[in-house]
This record gives sequence, structure tokens and C-alpha cells, in this order.
Amino acid sequence: MKIAVVGTGYVGLVTGTCFAETGNQVICVDIDAAKVARLKQGELPIYEPGLDVLFHRNIEEDRLKFTTSLVEGIKDAEVIFLALPTPPGENGSADLKYILGVAKDLGPLLENYAVIVDKSTVPVGTAEKVRAAIAANAKVDFDVVSNPEFLREGVAVEDFMKPDRVVIGTSSETAKKVMEKLYAPLVRQGNPVIFMDERSAEMTKYAANSFLALKITFMNEIANLCEKVGADVDDIRRGIGTDSRIGKRFLFAGIGYGGSCFPKDVQALAKTSQEYDYDFRMLNSVMAVNDDQKKKLLPIVRKHFDGNLKGKKIAVWGLAFKPHTDDIREAPALENIVALLEEGATVLAYDPEAMENTKRLISNVTYTHSAYDALDKADALMIFTEWPQFRTPDFAKMAELMNDKVIFDGRNLYELKQIREHGFLYYSIGRETQNLRELINIY
Ligand code: UDX
Repeated sequence: MKIAVVGTGYVGLVTGTCFAETGNQVICVDIDAAKVARLKQGELPIYEPGLDVLFHRNIEEDRLKFTTSLVEGIKDAEVIFLALPTPPGENGSADLKYILGVAKDLGPLLENYAVIVDKSTVPVGTAEKVRAAIAANAKVDFDVVSNPEFLREGVAVEDFMKPDRVVIGTSSETAKKVMEKLYAPLVRQGNPVIFMDERSAEMTKYAANSFLALKITFMNEIANLCEKVGADVDDIRRGIGTDSRIGKRFLFAGIGYGGSCFPKDVQALAKTSQEYDYDFRMLNSVMAVNDDQKKKLLPIVRKHFDGNLKGKKIAVWGLAFKPHTDDIREAPALENIVALLEEGATVLAYDPEAMENTKRLISNVTYTHSAYDALDKADALMIFTEWPQFRTPDFAKMAELMNDKVIFDGRNLYELKQIREHGFLYYSIGRETQNLRELINIY
């Protein structure tokens, strides 16, 4: 099939590359000429494991192309994906100016029937707005379909190629057939393509992300309570996750969720609820709890240093909002580092992928070449991202490098017994630690 993907951000590039990999002829369109020039030369602007191999292969084999021209991109396309940004607008709801702008341009350009697919996460009712914007100037028949993505950064290629499910919102039989054909190679193993109306598909995306954010937040609150009652949240996780109704995944308590999706989508759904005059109380709690959770370690750090961080040397492991990505959007590490710096501490930070991005935002931090380099004479280590390489460090070497053996761990990387054997003072989330209980009252 011939496919156009408008927008070469994260979702657009993964979508375009993966559909090229399944044998389609794909053209990605972007207004950013410099970006398109780089893409044409085989330069991938994002870090996503496994994507580069597919990206290069499909460029070489002539199935994946790039252009700045919408006219050229959509010529003869059977399917046109809109993978455009939907930044939060002034009032918290998603800003549709990019999507509706392109929709407006598309109308007069369409020469044959095409399926236009909303891939971006968009509020309920957007498909109707896109349809109206195209229809205003269209000369031919077309359909608009909502097809939300459920890609996790870091495993996006796998999520795309082997989706748990594909959700497609449309009431058009023709569009259904086109989308079924397009996704057939990806659902061979029997995972479902679920058809529904556009509004339900749009709502499904928000419901999925809000539910996952809620699941994490629930565990974070259980963790906070565990610290007070003297229980261990990791045991609770195992104890409840084995119930198949609850499920084992997304039950890891920590320093709060971040990234480009959960915070934005929970906020957008809360906004939609407001607009429809429904008080979705749970969502407001999720947002408030997560804001606090991201700052959770700071009072403990302050208490540990008797309220004075001036001149303290703090090592930071992990800047990305989660492992296997260089994405620092809404990453808990950032606001913690800013607070440490404001209170007079010096910060040495290491992340395997996200240091370049962080440097652009925070310059007065020493970014080091390795995790161990960050520990040089450090008075404490703070951990914000669970990169695999942080999981089994050489504790003896750490102890040697550090000025004091203190770890504030926002990701519960270490067994309590193990860390005690190495003589570290260890603060983690929701687990009874030697010292934490004395500090509980500071929350
Ligand atoms: C998410 C959704 O999973 C994906 O389906 C959607 O399309 C986009 O948003 P992503 O933002 O890439 O994907 O990250 P994800 O792996 O879902 O993690 C989100 C956040 O939750 C991270 O900050 C992570 O650290 C946190 N998290 C996740 C926890 O704190 N505990 C967990 O148990 C799981």
C-alpha cells in the first residue's frame, strides 16, 4: 500500500518506519526542512532501540522516503496518518492547531479516496473536527479514522510490530477494510483489531493511559503508607500482582511517573471531564499525588543533611523519565536536581542516554563519563531511573569512591539485605529501612 505519514516526531517515525518494514511504500512529511534533510541522509533524530536498523534498511530498499511537501507526500496515498503534536493548550486541553491546520490543507489536495488516520492522542470529538476541516474544501470522498497508538518509549518497535491490540474507530466499511489490510501483518499471532466508533477510540487512549497512571499512583500511595506502618511495598506488589485480575505489570512504586504521555493525558482527560460537567475526582487525586511523589525524597535528603545542603556533593544516577530512552520530559530527576542546586548542593550526574538533552536545560551540573565518575567524593547518591547498569553495581568500588555511603533510591533497585551488608545508609520507596521510620513524621 502507499502510505503518507504527516509529522516526523516520535510516533510518526516509528509508524512510518514500521509500515515500510511490512512492505508498504511510505513517505513521511514534515515542514521542518532541516529535519527532513537529516532524515534523507539516514540520520535518526530520536533514540529508540531497534528503530535504526529498520530505518536504514527501509531507506536503502527505497520503501521509506521523506519530503517537506504535503502535495508530494500524499500523492496517490491510500492512507494518510496524522502524527502531529498536540501540546497542552492554555487551559490544559490538547491544542489541535497543527492537526486541524494540516486537515484544512489536505482537503483541496486529495485526488482519490483516502483514509485519513488520527494517530496523535486527541480529545474526544477530534475526528469529527478533522473531517469537517477536510470536507470544507475536498473534491473527493474520504474517511477519517481514529487509530490511537499504545507505544511505550524504549520498546516502541516491539509494541508496534506485535501490538496487544489495535484500536480503530470508524463507522465506514471501506475504511475498515483498508485498515484491516494494513494491520494484517502485525496481528498474525491472533491479537485483535478492535473496531469501534471514533469517539470511543479516542476515549480508549485516554482511558488506557489514565488507568496505568492510576495503577502506578495507587502503588505509590500504598508505598507511602507502608513506610508509616512498617510494611514492604515490594512484598505487597508480589502479593497482589499474582491475582490475575490485578496483573503484575505497572505496580512498581517509585518516584512518580513522567514522560510525554501520562502527565499530559491524565490532565487532558480531567479537562474533558470538566468540559462535560463531570467531576472525575480520581484523576485530580492522581495528578496531585504524582506531583508530591516526584518530590518525595527531598525532605528526607534535607533531614539527612540536617537541613543544610550547602556545599554537599550529590551524585545522580539517571536523568531520563525511564530507562532505554533519552527523553527527559516530566522526568522526576529534573526538578530534584534544580531543588538541590537551589539549596546550594553541587551535582554530578550520569545517564547512559539523556545527558545531552539535560545539558540543554540545566548547565550548572557536572555530567560524567560513567556512573562511577559521578560518585567521586559524593556525600550521597540519588537514583531516579532504573537503567539496568545501575542494578548490579560494584558496591565496594562505590564505597571507596564516595565520601559517605548514603543512597536515596527513587526506584527501589537494591535488596535491603544486600545493601545493608555493604554498609550503606539506604533510603528507598515504601520499604522499611533502617532509618526511614525515624524520618516518617517529616512527610
Ligand atoms: C506510555 C504508555 O505505556 C503507552 O502505551 C502510551 O502510548 C504512551 O505512554 P511511556 O510514556 O513510553 O508509555 O512510558 P511507560 O513505560 O508507560 O512509563 C510511564 C511512566 O510510568 C514512567 O515514568 C515510569 O517510570 C513510570 N512507571 C511505570 C512506574 O513508576 N511504575 C511502573 O510500575 C511502571
